Amino acid sequence: MKQINIGLLGCGTVGTGVAKLLIESSSVITSRLGAILNLKRVADIDIETDRGVQFPQGVLTTDAHTVVNDPDIDIIVEMIGGEGIARELILGAIENGKQVITANKALLASQGNTLFQAAADKGVDLAFEAAVGGCMPIIKSMRESLVANQINSMTGILNGTCNYILTKITDERMPFEDALSEAQQKGYAEADPSLDVEGIDTAHKIAILTALAYGMNINLPNVFIEGISKITPLDVAFAEHFGYRIKLLAISKNKGNQVQARVHPTMIPFDNLLSSVNGTVNAIMVSGDAVGDIMLYGRGAGMMPTASSVISDAVDIARNLMAGTSQRIPALCVQKEHIQNINIMPMDEIETHYYFRFAALDKPGVLSTISGILGRHDISIQSMQQKGRKTNGSVPVVMISHVAKEADVRKALAEIDHLDVVSQPTMLIRIEDEKLD
Ligand code: HSE
Repeated sequence: MKQINIGLLGCGTVGTGVAKLLIESSSVITSRLGAILNLKRVADIDIETDRGVQFPQGVLTTDAHTVVNDPDIDIIVEMIGGEGIARELILGAIENGKQVITANKALLASQGNTLFQAAADKGVDLAFEAAVGGCMPIIKSMRESLVANQINSMTGILNGTCNYILTKITDERMPFEDALSEAQQKGYAEADPSLDVEGIDTAHKIAILTALAYGMNINLPNVFIEGISKITPLDVAFAEHFGYRIKLLAISKNKGNQVQARVHPTMIPFDNLLSSVNGTVNAIMVSGDAVGDIMLYGRGAGMMPTASSVISDAVDIARNLMAGTSQRIPALCVQKEHIQNINIMPMDEIETHYYFRFAALDKPGVLSTISGILGRHDISIQSMQQKGRKTNGSVPVVMISHVAKEADVRKALAEIDHLDVVSQPTMLIRIEDEKLD
C-alpha cells in the first residue's frame, strides 16, 4: 500500500495530538485514504518527556532542519507556533518542494500572503484548517462547501479562553482577573494571555477568514481589535436587564466595495444562537447569498480537536499527491488573478447601536447634560436605566443608543468624560441586534 511520509515539527499539545492520531487511529485513516500516513520524523527541543505516545524507534529528533531536508518526507506539519523559527522552517520546506500544514494563525495573519505566494510559486500546498476554530471545518467550508456563495457576513466566537472568561463573569459574576486566573490554571490561555484577552488571537482568525470570504489579501493591520479585560459583572447584569449577553465577537461584513472586520465585546440578544455558546466552545455563523445562514460549533482549542483538523489537511494533501496534483484549491479561495484590493472600513465609519455606562454624580441636571452632548453628536437614546447604589458619590447610568456612527460616539464620549460630574471613563459596548434597527 502507498505510504505518505509525514514530518512533524513541534510536539507540544497539538503536535502530540497529531502524533497520537497518526499512530493510534492509523487503521481508520488508512481505510478512508487508501494509503498509509506514516509519521516518519518528529522534531522537538524536548525528546525526553513522556507524552503518552509510543513513537517508533528513531522517529524523534531535536533537529527540525533534518526533518525539513529529509528527501523521503512528503508533508511537513508545523506545530511550533510563533513567527520566528516556524516561518523559516515553513519556507525551507516549501523550498524543498514539500507540502506543508500549519495551525499557526499568528504567522498566517501577519505573513500569510507571502507564504501562500511562496507555496504557489513552488507548486505545493500550504494547508491551515487548524489555524481557525480548532476542530470546526471552517476553512474547508469557506474554500469548498460555500464556493457557490457570495459571503454576506461572518460572526464568530473564535477564542475559547475569552469565551470561558465571559461565561464565568456571566454565570458566577466573577471579576475578570479571577476568571482569567482560572482559565490559565486550566491551560486554556495562550502562553501570553494578552493574545487571548486583548482580542489579538481572534483578530488573527477573522483576518484570515475575511480574506477567504471576500477574495482579498489578508489585512491584519486594519482589523479593529478591542479585548475583554474591561468587562465587569455590572455590565453583564445591565446587559441581561436589556435582554443581551456579552460575547467577544469577530464580525466581518461585506459592504460592497468595502468590508468590515472587527473584534470587540458585543451585546447580542438572548435569542441569537451565539449567546448560548458557552465555556471554551467556539462557533461561527456564516451568511451566504445561496445558503442563508449556516453555523459551525465545536471545540476551538485543545489537543485532539485541533489535531483532528490537522489530519483532515493531511488526508486532503495525501489524496492530491496520490492523484499527482497540488494547488487544486487556491489558498485564499479565489484564483490569484481574482484577488481584489478591498479596503477594510475604518472603525470611525462603522454604524451600530451602543451601550454606554456613565459613572455620573447623582444630582439634578447631570442626565440632561450628558444627553445634550449625545444629541449634539447625532446620538439618539433608545432606552435608559439608572440603578444601584452610589460608589464614591456616583451612580451607574446606562443608555442604549439608536444607530450611531462610531466617530460621533468617540467625540461625544471624549466630551462627556471631561465633565466634572463624570467620575470614570464611560464604558462602551457595541450591540448587534437587528430588532433595534
Ligand atoms: N488560545 C486559543 C483559544 C487557542 O483560547 O481559543 C486556539 O487558538
